[in-house]
Amino acid sequence: MLPATLICLLNAALVLAQSRQQISLNSVSSFNTQSLPGTSFQLPRADNLSVSVALCSGNKGSSSTRFFLTNASTVDDPGPEGGTDVFELNMKDGLGVFSGIFTNGGILAIDKEDNERLSFQIAASDNGPLHETLDRLPLFGDTTANQALLFSPPFGQVPISDPRYPNYTLAVPGLDMPSPPSSSPNFTLVVAETSASTPLTSMQQTACMISSQKTSGSIVNESSWPRDSDGWRTQWILNGLTAQTNYTAYVIQDNVKLSGPIYFTTKSAAFNCPLVASLPYCPRVSYAIPLSTPQTDLAIYDSTNLPSEISTPLIGYLRNFTTSLTTFACGRDYYSPLKSCADCQREYQNWLCAISFPRCGETSTTAGNSRSRKRQDGPAQAAFMTPALTTQTSGVDPRNPNFPVFNSSYELLLPCIETCFSADRACPSFLGFGCPDANFNAAKTYGVGYIDGVDSDMEGEGMTGTAQDRYGNVWCNAGEVNDLA
Ligand SMILES: *[C@@H]1O[C@H](CO)[C@@H](O)[C@H](O)[C@H]1NC(C)=O
Ligand SMILES: *[C@@H]1O[C@H](CO)[C@@H](O)[C@H](O)[C@H]1NC(C)=O
Ligand SMILES: *[C@@H]1O[C@H](CO)[C@@H](O)[C@H](O)[C@H]1NC(C)=O
Ligand SMILES: *[C@@H]1O[C@H](CO)[C@@H](O)[C@H](O)[C@H]1NC(C)=O
Ligand SMILES: *[C@@H]1O[C@H](CO)[C@@H](O)[C@H](O)[C@H]1NC(C)=O
Ligand SMILES: *[C@@H]1O[C@H](CO)[C@@H](O)[C@H](O)[C@H]1NC(C)=O
Ligand SMILES: *[C@@H]1O[C@H](CO)[C@@H](O)[C@H](O)[C@H]1NC(C)=O
Ligand SMILES: *[C@@H]1O[C@H](CO)[C@@H](O)[C@H](O)[C@H]1NC(C)=O
Repeated sequence: MLPATLICLLNAALVLAQSRQQISLNSVSSFNTQSLPGTSFQLPRADNLSVSVALCSGNKGSSSTRFFLTNASTVDDPGPEGGTDVFELNMKDGLGVFSGIFTNGGILAIDKEDNERLSFQIAASDNGPLHETLDRLPLFGDTTANQALLFSPPFGQVPISDPRYPNYTLAVPGLDMPSPPSSSPNFTLVVAETSASTPLTSMQQTACMISSQKTSGSIVNESSWPRDSDGWRTQWILNGLTAQTNYTAYVIQDNVKLSGPIYFTTKSAAFNCPLVASLPYCPRVSYAIPLSTPQTDLAIYDSTNLPSEISTPLIGYLRNFTTSLTTFACGRDYYSPLKSCADCQREYQNWLCAISFPRCGETSTTAGNSRSRKRQDGPAQAAFMTPALTTQTSGVDPRNPNFPVFNSSYELLLPCIETCFSADRACPSFLGFGCPDANFNAAKTYGVGYIDGVDSDMEGEGMTGTAQDRYGNVWCNAGEVNDLA
């Protein structure tokens, strides 16, 4: 008679050899340690195979289960004892990825703690890892007391019109909208209170974990939007949030890739500026504006309900500017070695939109994770940068005379002065475009020194280096956003 333990071992080995489950190429398989088909899996053949494991349960650091793999046909059960061509998956916050040569396939083995309940996914791909933490972050638009405007990471280029001489035709921006890319990723938005008893950021940072969580508020509109030169994004309008509350947001792409977190804060209950979005002539305008709240289902402004007293003159300015610009022999003569008439038109549009749509802000709810840049040539800036907010008293003449008088006081978030400098730099001087002197009185009408230094040649060397960051801080309006920040 063989000892009982040896019989068990033999049985286990036989079971392993017979029923090792095959992981198929370029697909995701889900497992649960309560009902595992075996403790090892057969990996497919590929010259460059990316194997990824994503944990779909538990908090960061909660799992002691380890994953080993091998590409050697001589190793039957890769594990902690190692061996030639045995590798351990380096698991970080629930995600482990390994890329290597698997010309004869290979084996992935789980070394699990006896009682650990774990659900996880395994994927193998010959075209880069299927599971991934994306570098590009979701983008925060703005909030009201109970709504939020959020964007996915960009997914498709917006075609940039680059006309050629002698047919240098510039369309009036926004009158011809590009059509969305034929296919878009499947994006899912997940939002939760930052102070929830189990915050999203404490969980395994994987798509399967985050996407299984309940999202705060309700998504009332989802659409594709060509927001800026970064490309198309999915735009979400979220209702039903709680006033003055910190939220954490993630975006999941195609159920396997995770982008985030970003953070944002809702405004106080007294905040009464509604959101505006989806304006073809001002595609980057997606924030709260000082207008009375529209009595529509979504209670936000878009091109269908924005008063024509505001949109008609704006489109007129864009049309007239384009006409003046093309009196220059665009594409034949050059006013700059770097900039074209099309660049000038784009920068002018961005500036015009930023000053035409005053943006409401709120001091009390500015997020707290502020940061500053240490200037090389000067003392460190204060730890908390205050945004370029200025109080507008009730009933004063609006910044944009085409806006009706707003019957309550509000805080105005000034445009970043860089929006003006960019237009000034990109446009031929005969147009007479000018910006106020950053060293003199510009701070009355613009946020100065946030993105670039006050001496505008110090690009990106300002106090924050960006118009907004991932923590929900917005320092000035419509400047470039470094979404990797
Ligand atoms: C296994 O991986 C190692 C290291 O990447 C590689 O040198 C070797 O050729 C691979 N073996 C097979 C059979 O693919
Ligand atoms: C294999 O694929 C990974 C992920 O796409 C990539 O980073 C790596 O450079 C590739 N290796 C080779 C040898 O092509
Ligand atoms: C000039 O370019 C525009 C836009 O690309 C095009 O619609 C138009 O047909 C062109 N005209 C000529 C004469 O090529
Ligand atoms: C996108 O993902 C969701 C969630 O898994 C799924 O219900 C939906 O069918 C997917 N849509 C497409 C177009 O793949
Ligand atoms: C969502 O927004 C887009 C863009 O504004 C619009 O075309 C669409 O009709 C909206 N959908 C709903 C259900 O309101
Ligand atoms: C555009 O130019 C026309 C003709 O010069 C002028 O009548 C009109 O007022 C201008 N529109 C705007 C918005 O400035
Ligand atoms: C939101 O987060 C900031 C920074 O962490 C913190 O200072 C603030 O108190 C939070 N606000 C609320 C309402 O929880
Ligand atoms: C704002 O107040 C003025 C003067 O009291 C009034 O005539 C106007 O109708 C008010 N506008 C709105 C939108 O309430």
